[in-house]
Amino acid sequence: DWNMPDYVEEAIANIREQVGDEEVILALSGGVDSSVAAALIHQAIGDKLTCVFVDHGLLRLNEAEQVMRTFADNMGLKIIHIDASDRFLGKLAGVTDPEAKRKIIGREFVEIFQEEAAKLSNARWLAQGTIYPDVIESAAAKSGKATGIKSHHNVGGLPETLNLKLLEPLRELFKDEVRKLGVALGLPPAMVYRHPFPGPGLGVRILGEIKREYADLLRQADAIFIEELRNTVDEETGKNWYDLTSQAFTVFLPVKSVGVMGDARTYEYVVAMRAVQTTDFMTADWAELPYSLLKRTSGRIINEVRGINRVTYDVSSKPPATIEWE
Ligand code: XMP
Repeated sequence: DWNMPDYVEEAIANIREQVGDEEVILALSGGVDSSVAAALIHQAIGDKLTCVFVDHGLLRLNEAEQVMRTFADNMGLKIIHIDASDRFLGKLAGVTDPEAKRKIIGREFVEIFQEEAAKLSNARWLAQGTIYPDVIESAAAKSGKATGIKSHHNVGGLPETLNLKLLEPLRELFKDEVRKLGVALGLPPAMVYRHPFPGPGLGVRILGEIKREYADLLRQADAIFIEELRNTVDEETGKNWYDLTSQAFTVFLPVKSVGVMGDARTYEYVVAMRAVQTTDFMTADWAELPYSLLKRTSGRIINEVRGINRVTYDVSSKPPATIEWE
């Protein structure tokens, strides 16, 4: 059995013993795993931990501000915040192929992290939020049993060339244990129980070429959808629809369709709402969201987001469709 206070104490003692007086760096994404790893290591060694938060310009609405508020302002972590959106969007200009986009984002991320790591000449350790399923998956990949169809560029790909020792305090934990640990460490439950968000971010939710204009429109539409999911409670279960779905988001379609507003004809972009239920993300059903929720959300998106005049709901399950559109 798993006793949380004992576990936290033991984990902290282990980290202190492992790193001694040496300094640690960690790439903080704002996702559950890296966030919990950061909070835990910070409890153990305080300012000897430096986090690097790279904003690739493909995050959700206000996400960078939220990460900085939670970790830097509220919890007092030392964080280097790199706004690299120009750099990423520059490299991505004209690129339409999904895998090419993933590779560029992954490569650029590693490069920026390396640059920052080189500046922290005292760091001897690279901390990662690797959890038990990642350990299993990478063992399977090494033995040739590749699991995924899409190349995932998470922090797991950070290079050996950094010459740092690896600190992976979550290696033995399953996701639900990581979440409980996060809450025990004082992270906001809403952050710890967030849906997964892919490393390339909105980069794989803008079909084809990525443009800042598209990302800005998508961020607004997505925030409305998420807000409505959180605010709509299912009477049967008493839970809100964000918690009743495994992943929900909005996808930007770079096509224009005709609409009408007042007496005028409009010719604007389309977004698709996507919400799925799954336990393992290998298969997934599209979520049977209430019509009233879909109606309210589409109405708000069309009224509030200038530049989008049509909203669709994706009713494809996985397989054969994937969860993301790219
Ligand atoms: P698919 O679209 O393959 O997604 O059904 C399954 C799960 O994986 C996530 N996903 C990614 N995560 N980097 C990531 O870190 C990626 O490139 C990537 N592509 C898909 C997706 O959000 C879903 O949870």
